[in-house]
Amino acid sequence: MDESILAQQLAYYNARAQEYDESVQQTGRYTGPGIPEVDAEWQYIARRLYTLPRVGHSLELACGTGLWTQELLDISEHITAVDGAPEMLATNKAKLNSPRVRYQQADLFKWQPSGVYDLVFFAFWISHVPPELLPAFIEKAAAAVKPGGRIVIADEPGGGKQLSGPVENKIEQTRTLHNGETYRIVKVYHDPQVLQRQLEALGFTDIDLWVGDFFFSLTAVKK
Ligand SMILES: C[S@@+](CC[C@H](N)C(=O)[O-])C[C@H]1O[C@@H](n2cnc3c(N)ncnc32)[C@H](O)[C@@H]1O
Repeated sequence: MDESILAQQLAYYNARAQEYDESVQQTGRYTGPGIPEVDAEWQYIARRLYTLPRVGHSLELACGTGLWTQELLDISEHITAVDGAPEMLATNKAKLNSPRVRYQQADLFKWQPSGVYDLVFFAFWISHVPPELLPAFIEKAAAAVKPGGRIVIADEPGGGKQLSGPVENKIEQTRTLHNGETYRIVKVYHDPQVLQRQLEALGFTDIDLWVGDFFFSLTAVKK
């Protein structure tokens, strides 16, 4: 894999921060006009989160503009929200304006967990992790979960309706911003069952995997 695509991907999301919510909303991925079936699946994933017991400290990786940070706030006392794009972090902070969220800028391909958390959450990030880097990333994320704590992963599944469009060369897409700028990014519709097996091999149990037409959500508890 050409490593420069990871830098381009980060630059793309940094530049997209201002238009991210609008573009996601157009597809109906959260409350608002859009495709009702997509919206319903998004809401279902959010409802699954609300059924989890309230936790002390959550870690959100690739937090973006805060679409999920705001949901996590309902079930977490404190959140550490990590993202590589300064514009994403600034947008999230301005939107949530919460003293219970601490922000951290880090490149997740270089990041190492510095503590353990009750809940480690990442949504719509794993599909931007190339397959060869996935096991190492999952191991790092798993290491950040306290014994008895949970990991929750949400994204678009392999075999689903590929809301984000087809991929080229198995793992790449070209994305265009409103201003016409184009970027190459990584996009992989990972098989959630492969993720499940990885988590089981790392000592996770109580697996709860839901796979819809557009999205999946995978929850597991660390022994
Ligand atoms: C598809 S967005 C998902 C954002 C948010 N989780 C959501 O569901 O709305 C992907 C996120 O990954 C972040 N990102 C991309 N490359 C990154 C990297 N190398 N390190 C950390 N974050 C990165 C982007 O800035 C962006 O916020």
